[in-house]
Amino acid sequence: MSHDPDSRRDAVGFDMRTLAGTRWPVPDWHLETIAGEMQCDAPKDRMMRVVRRMGDQAAPDFSDLDWDAELARFAPIEFPSYYTQPFHSVPGGYLSEAAAIGDRAALEAIYEDAHPRRSLGVRDELASLVPAHSRGVVDLGAGTGDGAAAIARRLPEARVTAIDASPFMVIAGRHQNRGLPTSRWSRASPRPPACPRAVRTR
Ligand SMILES: C[S@@+](CC[C@H](N)C(=O)[O-])C[C@H]1O[C@@H](n2cnc3c(N)ncnc32)[C@H](O)[C@@H]1O
Repeated sequence: MSHDPDSRRDAVGFDMRTLAGTRWPVPDWHLETIAGEMQCDAPKDRMMRVVRRMGDQAAPDFSDLDWDAELARFAPIEFPSYYTQPFHSVPGGYLSEAAAIGDRAALEAIYEDAHPRRSLGVRDELASLVPAHSRGVVDLGAGTGDGAAAIARRLPEARVTAIDASPFMVIAGRHQNRGLPTSRWSRASPRPPACPRAVRTR
């Protein structure tokens, strides 16, 4: 299946841009989708707690982002069939503005109990594990790349690249992490090997 930028509103079913720059409320359709997924074996109480917590997380400001102009820069690519599943209860899955706009809020909600600074704190902890002498770091499947950004802040001499198949993740990632001169966000074909020998830490 190839991605058609014009179909994104159909895939999402809800224009999240009306919420950009505000806190991230949980829309009814999201809760209804989650409720539908309660048939699965996922731990129900925890899942619902995380979804409700998302509304309490501060979200990056996307109000000045021109999604149409940004999406127009990406050529269509082929996605494997698994990729188009509705991951994490978001209609459109990773191929949606909703997934990208809500990415940080979702991770902040998920890691609320794990670290005093939630997911961004966890990302800083993980970044501290990257060897200080690294000159090139590639984050494959980076989402919006907050993990890559944490590494870029820690290692300003290194060239940090966040790669994701979703143009929405790449656009949102660039935007919410702008101002990091040694990092870049790009989209790669999800067909392996997308980046052979890309991650070398020694
Ligand atoms: C769970 S999410 C983001 C995880 C991210 N590393 C983080 O720490 O937040 C997984 C990401 O992997 C990307 N992805 C999945 N399969 C991919 C593939 N074959 N090639 C590139 N990106 C892929 C998705 O678009 C999605 O943004």
